[in-house]
Amino acid sequence: MKLFIDDAHLDEIKRLYEYYPVDGVTTNPSILSKVDQDPRKTLKEIREFIGEDDIIFAQAVALDADGIVADAHMIVDLLGKNTVVKVPSVPEGFKAIKQLTKEGIPTCGTVVYTPMQAYLAAKAGASYVAPYVNRIDNMGYDGVEVVKEIQDILDNSDFDCEVLAASFKNSQQVMELAQYGVGSATAAPSVIDGFVKNMAIDGAVQDFVNDFEKLTGKKAMTDLD
Ligand code: G3P
Repeated sequence: MKLFIDDAHLDEIKRLYEYYPVDGVTTNPSILSKVDQDPRKTLKEIREFIGEDDIIFAQAVALDADGIVADAHMIVDLLGKNTVVKVPSVPEGFKAIKQLTKEGIPTCGTVVYTPMQAYLAAKAGASYVAPYVNRIDNMGYDGVEVVKEIQDILDNSDFDCEVLAASFKNSQQVMELAQYGVGSATAAPSVIDGFVKNMAIDGAVQDFVNDFEKLTGKKAMTDLD
């Protein structure tokens, strides 16, 4: 499963890239609004940091298909290859996805709350569909189960599309979907940090250092004479 950072703060992206095996960055207008500068500057800085081989997702903001297509052109001109344009999975979005697919521009059908939206976005040509796990939970449904249903639909179709599961509140939800074979997930920095935030793990690592120090008086192999 590919793992993306769902954040636009460059310092956080740099920190996570240093420690974790991540595949790129996902953004949306709300995420970009948390960095107080022109969103084009933010996206460009992220692209410059992650390089041209990793994937960046940026969302079209216009509500009508022509505007979405125009936004997509601008996003791709700005960010180059390995850029995926997120498009809301609503009728104007499906129309735009069909057009962008004809042009060879990769898209992600986003704002997915139901399997039907995912089916239509995938059938329109989206390379990814992004169901919102936590937001579905908040509506009284089971977000993880909805993502599994969407994965089943894609597995039983010939669409060239994979799930980009999004909107997580904890790392266990991400792991359950990894186990199910979901292609991609994107999570906020706090959720990614949560994968290994565990006192038992920290304690076990520290025990090894303490035992080594008891034996040798040193804290690392390279401290030995
Ligand atoms: O990528 C979509 C995601 O950012 C939505 O997450 O936490 O706003 O529900 P959230």
